[in-house]
Amino acid sequence: MERLQKFLARCGVASRRQAEALIQKGLVAVNGEVVRELGVKVDPDRDRVTVAGRAVRLEREKIYLLVNKPRGYITGNRDPQGRKTVLALLPEGFPRVFPVGRLDYNTTGLLLLTNDGELAYALTHPKFQIKKVYRALVRGVPDPAALSALRTGVVLEDGPTLPAEVAIIKVEAGNAILSLGLREGRKRQVRRMCAAVGHPVLALERVAMGPLRLGDLAPGQYRRLTAAELKAVRDLVAQARQAVEGGKE
Ligand code: URA
Repeated sequence: MERLQKFLARCGVASRRQAEALIQKGLVAVNGEVVRELGVKVDPDRDRVTVAGRAVRLEREKIYLLVNKPRGYITGNRDPQGRKTVLALLPEGFPRVFPVGRLDYNTTGLLLLTNDGELAYALTHPKFQIKKVYRALVRGVPDPAALSALRTGVVLEDGPTLPAEVAIIKVEAGNAILSLGLREGRKRQVRRMCAAVGHPVLALERVAMGPLRLGDLAPGQYRRLTAAELKAVRDLVAQARQAVEGGKE
């Protein structure tokens, strides 16, 4: 519970002093009842507070974390089989965040955790076609025909894949490390695409999502996005929205 004027100030309605004046003028209501005294306390999670008839709500602090997901973690919130979730990488009591998109249990690499549902939606919905880049160690070395199939589209059981950017980065002991840039994110897509052209994935890491890069963040570690990264992500999302929706919200 907290004092009404403090709550109003935290919501950005006015300074605490100005909020007191609003209360005394009878402009503030709690659960439909006008409040004029200054001692009243509210529960920010339960009480409905209005100022001049308009609801005010606390803007929760937005959190954006970049994690290097290790193998052996799921990206869901909870697992019926009791496997560890990436949220266990955060300290106990950390504010609630959720993973943006999914990575398989054995896939490592870049994962964004946030409580910003709008941004998460724009980064993952296929209609916005945000690029995700993976590095895949595959069995054998794809020949030009296999590379061309990966680039132009492979027919999977849920339909053909969109054009992808694919390059061989390195050949090691008869196996290849590929870079794959995809603008969609179907379940196990990279694994299924590579298997479909005869080169099953032996290890898979996501190294980029839009303007975000995994860099040298160690597996299991996380960090907050920098202001520059956040701006770059927001700019990209705004562009993608503009392209798809003509800017309408
Ligand atoms: N593609 C996959 O096959 N697995 C992932 O975790 C991500 C993309």
